Amino acid sequence: MTPWPYPRWLAHRGAGKLAPENTLAAFRLGAGLGYTAFECDVKLSADGVPFLLHDDALDRTSNGAGTASALPWADLSQLDAGSWHSRTFAGESLPTLQAVAAFVLRNGFSLNIEIKPTLGADVPTGQRVAALADRLWAGQAVPPLLSSFRPEALAAAQAAAPALPRALLLDTLWPGWFECATELGCVAVVTQHGLMNTELLNRLHAAGWRALVYTVNDATDAERLLALGVEGLITDNLNGFAPATG
Ligand code: G3P
Ligand code: MG
Repeated sequence: MTPWPYPRWLAHRGAGKLAPENTLAAFRLGAGLGYTAFECDVKLSADGVPFLLHDDALDRTSNGAGTASALPWADLSQLDAGSWHSRTFAGESLPTLQAVAAFVLRNGFSLNIEIKPTLGADVPTGQRVAALADRLWAGQAVPPLLSSFRPEALAAAQAAAPALPRALLLDTLWPGWFECATELGCVAVVTQHGLMNTELLNRLHAAGWRALVYTVNDATDAERLLALGVEGLITDNLNGFAPATG
């Protein structure tokens, strides 16, 4: 297997629950706590701009309402994505992938871009996110890791930017996942942490893939997974786990 360039600990959605998820404020906070690798969720605006948001709808994590992908970036960029979390972050914006890439690259950090298509938008999201990431990280030693629960999004990413590394996300071991990851040319599989065990880890490693897990917030779970030898743990618990020790 080629050397794995990513840190073992990744901050989930920027800084877990310590700051408004998927905002630059979250990334800054995560960085301040020593994290150098980050996971974030990326989808498309109505005019095709890749930006960070977990849910299809704006309601939970901004002062907007309804389906985010129905709005152009000019409208999305005006929303407050921080006040829902706390007054400290009032006025924080939804970030574009481009803005997050600039932050990550300026600081020499690593990024796991979870391609998170709005329902029905797997192919354009995979295509546009991968094409943009390919441009933004051109010439960089460590590319972003593209992951998704959606095989069609990863297939579109593969077609658009074949050189960018891909990982299949699994919340269950659904029939055909192994063949799917093989066809997608994945370098890693990212599972819900409870699914990971010695048998699965050995199967992944035998296929030449790395094993990553989400979302590991409990110390007992972390100890088990580190003892197993997973290559990556995605966590909300930034105060609980010191990335420098991992
Ligand atoms: O990428 C790992 C993890 O973020 C997947 O779950 O729902 O938090 O995006 P979710
Ligand atoms: Mg995610």
